Formats: sequence, structure tokens, C-alpha cells
Amino acid sequence: MNFELSNEHKLIRDSAKDFAQHELLPGVIERDEKQEFPHDQIKKMASMGFLGMMVNPKYGGGGMDTISYVLAMEEISKIDASCSVIMSVNNSLVCWGIEKFGNEEQKEKYLPMLAKGDVLGAFCLSEPEAGSDATSQRTTAIDKGDYYLLNGTKNWITNGNSASIYLVIAQTEVEKGHKGINAFIVEKNFEGVVVGKKENKLGIRASDTTSIMFSDVKVPKINRIGDNGFGFKFAMKTLEGGRIGIASQALGIASGAYELSLRYSQERKAFGKEIYKHQAIAFKLADMATEIDCGRLLCLKAAWQKDNNINYAETSSMAKLYCAEKAMRITTEAVQIHGGYGFVKEYHVERLMRYAKITQIYEGTSEIQKIVISRSILK
Ligand code: CAA
Repeated sequence: MNFELSNEHKLIRDSAKDFAQHELLPGVIERDEKQEFPHDQIKKMASMGFLGMMVNPKYGGGGMDTISYVLAMEEISKIDASCSVIMSVNNSLVCWGIEKFGNEEQKEKYLPMLAKGDVLGAFCLSEPEAGSDATSQRTTAIDKGDYYLLNGTKNWITNGNSASIYLVIAQTEVEKGHKGINAFIVEKNFEGVVVGKKENKLGIRASDTTSIMFSDVKVPKINRIGDNGFGFKFAMKTLEGGRIGIASQALGIASGAYELSLRYSQERKAFGKEIYKHQAIAFKLADMATEIDCGRLLCLKAAWQKDNNINYAETSSMAKLYCAEKAMRITTEAVQIHGGYGFVKEYHVERLMRYAKITQIYEGTSEIQKIVISRSILK
């Protein structure tokens, strides 16, 4: 077993780190405070190839592996988790979902623009009454011959306003339960698509999270993904990979807070010495470093399994659960280490602490990950 990253992987990690420091750090506090969508930053990320990293080059992507994606996600999330959630949804939910399960026509039509970042995608599964309980879809898509008639409301949609392409999960035959669910590619400019209000969030405030209403939207039959009734499995399979992205985001949030704490503890003096020389602080840093290393190993293991076609559902949920819980703990400790400075915006750790909370919630709460893991180990 080799734990050393290849030179190519190190290059990807270092260029993401450099990009985050030079292009994302300036203005990150203001974008968060004003809830300003990072248009310019996302354009630059697109030009660097961060929006379609794993897509086959024949569809305009970077053709990179999942390990590269984890490394880039961690670096970008250390600075700006609004940008990294936009990146994660586009890469692992939308591009991957279409590339893995779409037909050739769908891939040729939609993947190049999404992978190059010319447009963004959104994944529309959650509903006002179907967040964790994803089989309880109320949005309906009724088969009308050449098209499906789509009606319903989706909630908490990342990239809700900024996306041009939506992957929408809807109930096509109510009596069949989860076997009567399908997934569709819906264009924002289809008649009847209305973007709802933007949420005013605790964290990742620069990303746009909205509801989306579908009112008698005619979705061409050729836009259904996979065989009839495949929609729920499509959502579950896609989320398995999405959870690697969010685990890496949580990892980055935690390691960003740790690095800031390490630096601060060497600069700040109290009781006559730098605070890292006090065991109370040194032990906190030791715990943080240990937990971050464990989380990174889980993320990389899940990525390696995915790249090697080994079932990664259990590991991706473990990585998501562990990294999200640790991100919350580590960022809270980082604020504590910074004392009063940690409670104000200029020192960045309060923003990281606010970012951390959502990683315990989206793409399946920590409790959902425990359902997936326990079912897997007990089956
Ligand atoms: N792969 C393939 N099939 C799967 C699967 C998987 N990973 N998980 C479940 N299935 C199948 C089951 O085998 C079953 O099929 P059969 O009846 O044919 O055997 C079917 O799906 C139903 O499965 P369950 O009975 O296990 O379903 P459940 O109702 O008990 O729920 C759950 C399972 C894991 C809790 C699921 O509902 C879930 O993951 N919920 C969380 C949803 C979620 O993550 N939402 C996030 C929204 S997206 C987002 O946040 C993006 C963003 O903006 C950042």
C-alpha cells in the first residue's frame, strides 16, 4: 500500500491551493456577508477545469480521477465553501449523473457545456416534505406520450438560480412507490420553470440556494435518464459520489481552521509565551491534526474505491459522516483557540464554523449516513 501522492496529484492539489489563496481569498468575507454569487470566481474555476474535473475529455472534461477531485475540493474549501459547493454539485451530482447514466444523445448535448463550466447544473431531489425521506416525492411527471408533464416544488436547491440545467427527480407512477420515480434533464428556459426565493443562510451564503417551481412543464421524453422507474436508484447512486465531494468539503473546512489555528497559536502570546506552548492549546492542535488525517484517509479511500470500481457506498457515507462531524468540532475549537478574535469576521474561523454546519445536513444528514452505514455493515 502506497500512501504517497503521485506528482500529478500533488500538482493538482498545489494549483488548487494557489488558486484558492490568490483568487478566492480576496473578497471572501464580503461575498459571504453580502450573499454575493461568485460569478467571476466561478468563471476562473471553469477556465482552470475545476467544474468538470472527472468528465471524459471527449465531452469537454478534465478526465481526472476522483482522488484529484478530493484534493482540489479540500484546498478550495479551506478558503471558500460557497465556491466548493457549486463545484461539487456540478461535478459529482450533475456531470457524473449524466455521464454515468445518460444516453449518448444526452451526454453530447449537455455534458460539454456543463463540464466546461459554460453553464451550471443543479440537482433537484429535496422537497418541502421530502428531504431525508427521499422516496416521498410529491413532484409528479405524468407520461403524455412524447413528453412528461412536470408539476411540483423543489426546495433547498444549490445553484437554484445560477444553474441552467436541472436534474429533477419526480414521481411518474404514484402507485409504484420508489419504483415509479424517474429522473429528468430539465432546462431552466423550459416554459413553466420558476425560480423561487433565495434562502438567507447561516453559511455558504455566497452560493445561491432557492426553491424551484415546475408548473405544467413539458419535458421531452428523450430527457428521461435511464429506463422507466430508474429515478430513485439514479438519485441514490449519484449521491454516493456526491458524498465524497461533501466529505472533502468538510475536510477542507476543518483543515483550513486547523491551519489558521496553528499559525495563530505561534503568533499570539499569553502568560509570557506563545499560546501553542501551553498544553491546553497544543493538545487541541494534536487532536485536530489527528482527526484531519483520519478524515483525509477516508475521503481518499472512498475516491480510490470509486476509481477502481469497488463499491464505495459505505466508505463515502463514513467519510461524509466523519468529516462533517469533525469539521463542526474542529472549527468550534479553532474559534476557541482564537478567543475573541475568533468571534469576529477578519480572522476567518467564524466563517469556517458557519460553513461546517451545512456539511452535517446536505447530501444526507449525519443520521442518514448512519442509516446507510449500519444497513451496509448489518446486511
Ligand atoms: N444504490 C442503489 N440502490 C439503492 C441505494 C443505493 N445506494 N440505496 C437504496 N437503493 C434502493 C434500494 O435497494 C431499494 O430498492 P429495491 O426496493 O428495488 O430493493 C430502494 O432504493 C429503496 O431503498 P430503501 O428502502 O433503502 O429506501 P429508504 O426510504 O429506506 O431510504 C435513504 C433510504 C438512504 C434514507 C435515502 O432516502 C436517502 O439517502 N435519503 C437522503 C437523501 C439525500 O441525501 N438528500 C440530499 C439532497 S441533494 C443535496 O443536498 C445536494 C445539494 O444541494 C448540496
